Amino acid sequence: MQQRKVLLVTGGGRGIGAATALLAAKRGYAVCVNYRRDAEAAQQVVEKIRSEGGHAIAVPADVSVEAQVVDLFETVDREFGRLDALVNNAGILERQMRVETMDAGRMQRIFATNVIGTMLCAREAVRRMSTRHGGAGGAIVNVSSIAAKTGSPFEYVDYAASKGAVDTFTIGLAHEVAQEGIRVNAVRPGFIYTEMHASGGEPDRVERVKANVPLRRGGHAEEVAYAILWLLSDEAAYTTGGFIDVAGGR
Ligand SMILES: NC(=O)c1ccc[n+]([C@@H]2O[C@H](COP(=O)([O-])OP(=O)(O)OC[C@H]3O[C@@H](n4cnc5c(N)ncnc54)[C@H](OP(=O)(O)O)[C@@H]3O)[C@@H](O)[C@H]2O)c1
Repeated sequence: MQQRKVLLVTGGGRGIGAATALLAAKRGYAVCVNYRRDAEAAQQVVEKIRSEGGHAIAVPADVSVEAQVVDLFETVDREFGRLDALVNNAGILERQMRVETMDAGRMQRIFATNVIGTMLCAREAVRRMSTRHGGAGGAIVNVSSIAAKTGSPFEYVDYAASKGAVDTFTIGLAHEVAQEGIRVNAVRPGFIYTEMHASGGEPDRVERVKANVPLRRGGHAEEVAYAILWLLSDEAAYTTGGFIDVAGGR
């Protein structure tokens, strides 16, 4: 039986997920680094953790596909024998455009990963961690976005709406499992330097928009990871259904 606490990070191979996986390993978690396509990036995170004496595995799964989510959690069961924490980090956006030019396929892809994926992974985590199901409790952190508040006009309102759904899900699930040993919280990052902005068609987006941030700079993935790790920790024992905006004051 694995004695370290076990954390599953979806989309843990790159960006905020990778920073979270690396920081979690430093804090003593064994980490399952989920990814969708970029096996090399995920393997690099795993190798770094192992080279520093930590425990990690990389597991491919598309969080928007139920059967793959079930397999992902069963792999964690098999490899680690326990689950203490989940970070629902996997998320996507597509090219910047106004709503009237978006097609249904795009809207469905965005919601499938950002919302359905988050809910499916949370479901599997609750089935394992809830005291109602014989689990030992645990913590879930959903990676939302400050876009849930701003709506991202002229860029990706569909993405922003999906993060609004993540916020509502965070509150509802937090209340549902509060008496079963599970805390559920979310972080809302602002403009963070990752490869995600390239998917929107503007790799240097943070440089363009950072003048609108009260702190006058973009954020780093590690700065989001610190907030996530605090929410997962016992220091946040009285915090559930809560949100930390990591957005430079926006
Ligand atoms: N960067 C920002 O400014 C910002 C701001 C607010 C919120 N966020 C949120 O932060 C989270 C991480 O974003 P990021 O900027 O770190 O993005 P990123 O650098 O583009 O990395 C995204 C990660 O998610 C994985 N992923 C995407 N779709 C997936 C799926 N269907 N199943 C499993 N994994 C999937 C990717 O896997 P592969 O490596 O295999 O492609 C990758 O590891 C997202 O939820 C995003 O919405 C980011």
